[in-house]
Amino acid sequence: HTTTAAMKHVFRGTFIHSTQQTPVEILEDALLGVNADGKVAFIAKPEELNKLSETFGFTPAEVTHLAQHEFFMPGMVDTHIHAPQYSYAGTALDMPLLQWLNTYTFPAESRFKSLDIANEVYTQVVKRTLRNGTTTACYFATIHTDASLLLAQITNDFGQRALVGKVCMDKNSSLKHYKETMQESQEETCRFISELLNKKYPLVKPVVTPRYALSCTGALLGQLGAIAKNNHLHIQSHISENLDEVKLVKELFPECTSYTDVYHKHNLLTDKTVMAHGCHLTDEELDLFRETGASLSHCPNSNISLCSGLLNVRNVLNHKVKLGLGTDIAGGYSASILDAVRKTLDVSKVLTILEPENDVLTFEEVFRLATLGGSQALSIDDHTGNFVVGKDFDALRVNAAAPGGPIDIIDCEGPKVLLEKFLNLGDDRNILEVFVAGRRVVPFTYQVV
Ligand code: GUN
Ligand code: ZN
Repeated sequence: HTTTAAMKHVFRGTFIHSTQQTPVEILEDALLGVNADGKVAFIAKPEELNKLSETFGFTPAEVTHLAQHEFFMPGMVDTHIHAPQYSYAGTALDMPLLQWLNTYTFPAESRFKSLDIANEVYTQVVKRTLRNGTTTACYFATIHTDASLLLAQITNDFGQRALVGKVCMDKNSSLKHYKETMQESQEETCRFISELLNKKYPLVKPVVTPRYALSCTGALLGQLGAIAKNNHLHIQSHISENLDEVKLVKELFPECTSYTDVYHKHNLLTDKTVMAHGCHLTDEELDLFRETGASLSHCPNSNISLCSGLLNVRNVLNHKVKLGLGTDIAGGYSASILDAVRKTLDVSKVLTILEPENDVLTFEEVFRLATLGGSQALSIDDHTGNFVVGKDFDALRVNAAAPGGPIDIIDCEGPKVLLEKFLNLGDDRNILEVFVAGRRVVPFTYQVV
């Protein structure tokens, strides 16, 4: 006879996550149940096994036991990644932002008019980030609506949680064929949003995506602000990444008091906005971020690779501005949030070398930024980011001592050391399984035909 399983999974082992109160909470030898909707149904002590199995309708034989050196942690959140730029990740990092965009980025992105190229690269980047433990990604696509819809379809097919944006830009491109008119940009954004919403993908949302203030006329920025407001949508863009960029923005928008004010005046700073970089923001601008509820995506690999600047994350956190981590593929060369964790710690230490009074970030704090902090930055922390009962089970099953992997473990090491070693030394060989909304998405089951 068959019964519908009341529980999709029940695990017994170590769970490590962040909460509002503490950056690293370790639950050793715990039981966690995931219900048929993919949500955390309970997290409890093993003494409660009998009671739980009655209440939730599972047998002790259905419990999956984690092995020694294994633990679960929340899936990582990439709050800023350019899917098309994955095609040249690891190359072309020899010039500053504005030249880099014109020389490499716009020509590479213009090729995504072809759905064949889009299909190939977007499949690669979704698979790569999932394997690396990114359960949620906030993507920039290109100006091409149909290719952007294809990216949304691919994230849905592979089971990655995603925000996907069709890029908007109506000026300042080095290529006349990689630019829209204001009207095209606005109409295609509306088409992108309505076609994506019509698909009813459970884990994929559209995000309104003005490329940045130098790529958009004030008129377009205003239209996009209105579209986001009328449809209660997420917004993403770039801000204050590079000093030449900041200077040009001030020249082009003399009526605005700051770069942040440019977005604010066009209704683009909301509690569903995430802005990448912010290396050169003033304290007053950070105050405006806090007041509007907008967040920052810290992309340290990109900031170093393009010699853009060093974001002082401690100062951002002191201003109570929400902040997550981003890879910024391909300004950043790594498609792993583990790399962003390491470079966030490195940048914080470099700032302390330069200014000894700077308070260094701890690995525990950066673990939170990679998980719960990213969820907060994307305003999805009501249903993702940690293992609180009722949230979606987005999780990584990690084996810190995976055979053939990059980490050597001494037997007696406790879970906090396993986490620290995984963050500093680990890679996809340590990530045995990835779950998004309770569904196991790594190892891959979906095959591209
Ligand atoms: N600013 C505007 N567009 C881009 C981009 O594609 N990458 C980065 N790093 N900064 C940008
Ligand atoms: Zn970017």
